[in-house]
Formats: sequence, structure tokens, C-alpha cells
Amino acid sequence: MTKKLKWLAAAALCTAAMGAQAEVSQVRIWAAACATCHGTGGQAQEGNESLAGKDKDEMFQKLMDYKSGRKPATLMHQLTAGYTDDQLRQIAAYFAGQKK
Ligand code: HEC
Repeated sequence: MTKKLKWLAAAALCTAAMGAQAEVSQVRIWAAACATCHGTGGQAQEGNESLAGKDKDEMFQKLMDYKSGRKPATLMHQLTAGYTDDQLRQIAAYFAGQKK
């Protein structure tokens, strides 16, 4: 490999790594909006549902049911309305991956 090609390969790898990093922190920003009630990292205080370590698909389904109004709620209807389906899927995956 020529010096220039090696440099290009390194730059491409670096860009890919930065992209992955940006995706993780984006989800964390969305998830931070849930922390007030569901706890930092999904571990809630008494009286609120903890989300950490819950089943990803079940959580996503609940969020979609709140969004569509199928599931009764006091606040989660409004909250979920602010996210796209894909964002909710990513948020559910994020909390599912947190330690209980
Ligand atoms: C202002 C407080 C508050 C915030 C912020 C909040 N929630 Fe909730 N969440 C609730 C309450 C209260 C419930 C119970 C349902 C209801 O009354 O709306 C709930 C229920 C849930 C449930 C169902 C729990 C279960 O197993 O029954 C999930 C999942 C959930 N919230 C996820 C989220 C996510 C993800 C976010 C961030 C995008 C979020 N919540 C932000 C208050 C909040």
C-alpha cells in the first residue's frame, strides 16, 4: 500500500468510528428526556417504572401503544408523540441495554 492509500484508509476508519459514536450519544440525548421520571440510566425512584434491562420489543410496543392512544396513560401519550417510530425503537433498545 502506498503511503497515501494507508492514510486514506485510516481516515475512512476514523470517520466510521465517529459516526457510530454520534449515533450512541444521540440516543442518550433522547433518553435523557426520560430520566426525570424513569431515572438516570433507566433506574427509577420509588413510584415510577424502571426501564433498565426491560425487554426491548415489549418496551417498544408499549411506547407505540402510547403514541397511538391504544394504551391508557396520563403523560406518555404526549411524550411519545414527540418521537418518530424509529427513535422510539432506538430509545427502547438503549434502556433495554442498561443494567438493572
Ligand atoms: C414526566 C414524567 C415522565 C417522563 C419524562 C417519561 N415518562 Fe414514561 N411513564 C411515566 C408515567 C407516569 C407512566 C405510566 C403511564 C402514564 O400514566 O402515562 C410511564 C410509563 C412508561 C412506560 C411503560 C412502563 C411499563 O412497563 O408499564 C414506558 C416504557 C415509558 N414510560 C418509557 C418512557 C420513555 C422511553 C421516556 C422518554 C422518551 C419516558 N417514558 C418519559 C412518566 C414519564
